[in-house]
Amino acid sequence: MWRSIVYILLIFSMAYPSIQDEEDDHEATRIGIIGGGISGTSTAYYLRKLFGDGIKIDLFESERVGGRLANINIDGVEYEAGGSIIHPKNKYMVEFAKQFGYEQRTSTDGRMALYGNSGVLIESCSWNLVTMAKFLWRYGFDVLNIETFLKETFFDKFDRIYNLQDEGLAFTTVEELLRAMDESFVNFTRITLQTLLEEKGFSERFINEIAMGALRTNYGQTTNVHAFVGAVSLAGVEKGLWAVKGGNYQIPERLWKKSKATLINAEVTQVILQKDSSDVSYELNYKNTADGKTNSREYDIVIVAAPFRNSEKNKIEFVDFPTEIPSSVTDFHRTIALFVQGTPNYTTYGFNSAADFPESILTTNESIFWNSYGKQSSVSGKKHLEKNKDPTEDDIVSKIFLNKVPTEKQVQLLFQTRKELRLVDWLAYPEYKPNMELPAFVLYDQLYYVNAIESAASAMEMDVIGARNVANLAYNHWNNIFDKVDEINIKSEPKKEEL
Ligand SMILES: Cc1cc2nc3c(=O)[nH]c(=O)nc-3n(C[C@H](O)[C@H](O)[C@H](O)COP(=O)(O)OP(=O)(O)OC[C@H]3O[C@@H](n4cnc5c(N)ncnc54)[C@H](O)[C@@H]3O)c2cc1C
Ligand SMILES: *[C@@H]1O[C@H](CO)[C@@H](O)[C@H](O)[C@H]1NC(C)=O
Ligand SMILES: *[C@@H]1O[C@H](CO)[C@@H](O)[C@H](O)[C@H]1NC(C)=O
Ligand SMILES: *[C@@H]1O[C@H](CO)[C@@H](O)[C@H](O)[C@H]1NC(C)=O
Repeated sequence: MWRSIVYILLIFSMAYPSIQDEEDDHEATRIGIIGGGISGTSTAYYLRKLFGDGIKIDLFESERVGGRLANINIDGVEYEAGGSIIHPKNKYMVEFAKQFGYEQRTSTDGRMALYGNSGVLIESCSWNLVTMAKFLWRYGFDVLNIETFLKETFFDKFDRIYNLQDEGLAFTTVEELLRAMDESFVNFTRITLQTLLEEKGFSERFINEIAMGALRTNYGQTTNVHAFVGAVSLAGVEKGLWAVKGGNYQIPERLWKKSKATLINAEVTQVILQKDSSDVSYELNYKNTADGKTNSREYDIVIVAAPFRNSEKNKIEFVDFPTEIPSSVTDFHRTIALFVQGTPNYTTYGFNSAADFPESILTTNESIFWNSYGKQSSVSGKKHLEKNKDPTEDDIVSKIFLNKVPTEKQVQLLFQTRKELRLVDWLAYPEYKPNMELPAFVLYDQLYYVNAIESAASAMEMDVIGARNVANLAYNHWNNIFDKVDEINIKSEPKKEEL
């Protein structure tokens, strides 16, 4: 008797969860995310936090989770191939690393040089005081003012987004999101960095050398980019920069796992609008990466977490929409990351030998065929290649950024010898200019675009901000919380009296 009751209870308790699961599956809101980089995975993470178990998330990735965050293996050692540096004030990236238990790998304070048409312009040295004196001599107080400028004009205002997002606020366009931080940020997107720095009193020399060097290494571009991305780029040459020990790609991997999204290794080819009466849903057509077979699934909410680039690769077709989607595509800048294990040709960079050769060199003129040079530390933090017992100059691993694939002759100018050469060809980030379109995060009802944020600036932290914005938007729209969309109730500025 007892035994059979226990038996029945057992069957029941075993059967119950699976029936429940199926019902949940059927009623759960279905969300499809296209793109498994930091944008797509952090969107999944924030959606799970907001909706709890009431949603089912599928994450489509045609290549590998991480996207533009990836390691490259040179002679058995891993290096960052794409997005590599993180600013200490990047709140989300700092939090993720901490929460997931990753160590920060700080970039060593190695020597840096600026290189112009006529050779080396200035170089730092191991003694900070002497370096400061040299820089003050060449650039005056601009080298000190830039820090105050970045803090007051940029970071203090930028930090407002974190409180707004904690409150669940969301913005439908990049322009509204920037305005929520500060009105001046919208203005920054309408002028060049050069104009802004001139207005703020920075010298021509500072702009042509320091600001230019920062832009060329971080975005392969010039001080003619808009001033918002320009400020982000200047922040990228500040102190305290770090990377995730082991590789930055680990953050998107963990975000994906935390989100409990189902990874579908496939390329989404079509997003088809299904409109029955008033309900909107979407059919995604996709091609499996493994076998090329096509398939389709239906979703209530779809999130595009990959840029609409002016390129044939990974093109998504939007079908049966009453308006054209996307309304525009962005020109992307091609950046070549050339990795070489071998001896740099020191004279090409303006130096005589290994002894005085710096860790990094930034070029300051567009007519120079390489953008920047960087001696590499591995993702584990080891300097160059400490694998061999007696590393020689030949073992140095360097990364050169260029805007074009170098010719054999150019490679020979850059390196005297080489054991290994690898080239990563990135469609890297938008081609930035003032007054470029700042697209909307909303493409259609329940259809969102995280990478709209890249028009303001392409950087890991920016993408996470875009991702959290889209998660908040999707949640607010789904639950009819309209007072948290495009409203800034927290920030109340005293009104100026009209005379
Ligand atoms: C060389 C380089 C250096 C950089 N340096 C820095 C830096 O130092 N610091 C910093 O903060 N940022 C840096 N960045 C920028 C940073 O890497 C990017 O902003 C960020 O990684 C972009 O993430 P994402 O998820 O938006 O896009 P991606 O990483 O590009 O992810 C999009 C993903 O979507 C997939 N996909 C696209 N279309 C489809 C489809 N139709 N179906 C399925 N999957 C699809 C792609 O395979 C890709 O994996 C750098 C970028 C590059 C290229
Ligand atoms: C932004 O630009 C507009 C128009 O040029 C101007 O009226 C406004 O004062 C500017 N705002 C800020 C904060 O700079
Ligand atoms: C190194 O570069 C210089 C020019 O900067 C060039 O003349 C020389 O041939 C190069 N050396 C080698 C070994 O390629
Ligand atoms: C950059 O180089 C070109 C070509 O050599 C030159 O005409 C120009 O003046 C240089 N620009 C600056 C800012 O030095």
